[in-house]
Amino acid sequence: MSIQRTFVMIKPDGVRRNLIGEIISRFEKRGLKIIGLKMVKIDRPTAERLYEEHKGKSFFEELISYITSGPVVCMVIEGDEAVSVVRKMIGNTDPKEAPPGTIRGDYALSKAENVIHASDSEEKAKREMSIFFKEEELVTPLAQVHM
Ligand code: PPS
Repeated sequence: MSIQRTFVMIKPDGVRRNLIGEIISRFEKRGLKIIGLKMVKIDRPTAERLYEEHKGKSFFEELISYITSGPVVCMVIEGDEAVSVVRKMIGNTDPKEAPPGTIRGDYALSKAENVIHASDSEEKAKREMSIFFKEEELVTPLAQVHM
């Protein structure tokens, strides 16, 4: 077992289309634990920090204006190999390449409006979750058992 934490964000189109419950339910049914959860409207500096690796790319402005266009739901998810398990569950960035049964394969409309973001490595997960969550805002699975 290799317990990992990963950062997941339901994007503005996912929130607008009332997919929050459906998406969280998929992770829970897969045995992953939601250990942090909040809805936020991201401001421009935070969006630029989250997506700093894409600065200078042709789609950067479109990405920032889209991600700041409405509320998003941020989560920290914990479980065995959570980073790769969650990435498999969400599917390819381009919905045309995402198999049915993945979140993007079932719901995404385009490369921009693709419902959800998830960290692609443990290092990125640590960086991304620290943008939105303080360590003390995360609960441990043990604490959830006793809730
Ligand atoms: S790259 O250059 O291959 O790394 O880019 P890619 O993996 O395709 O996409 C990186 C993130 O940018 C989002 N994206 C866009 N957003 C808005 N508008 C446009 N045109 C656009 N193209 C790509 C894409 O959904 C990826 O977001 P995340 O949240 O990282 O999945």
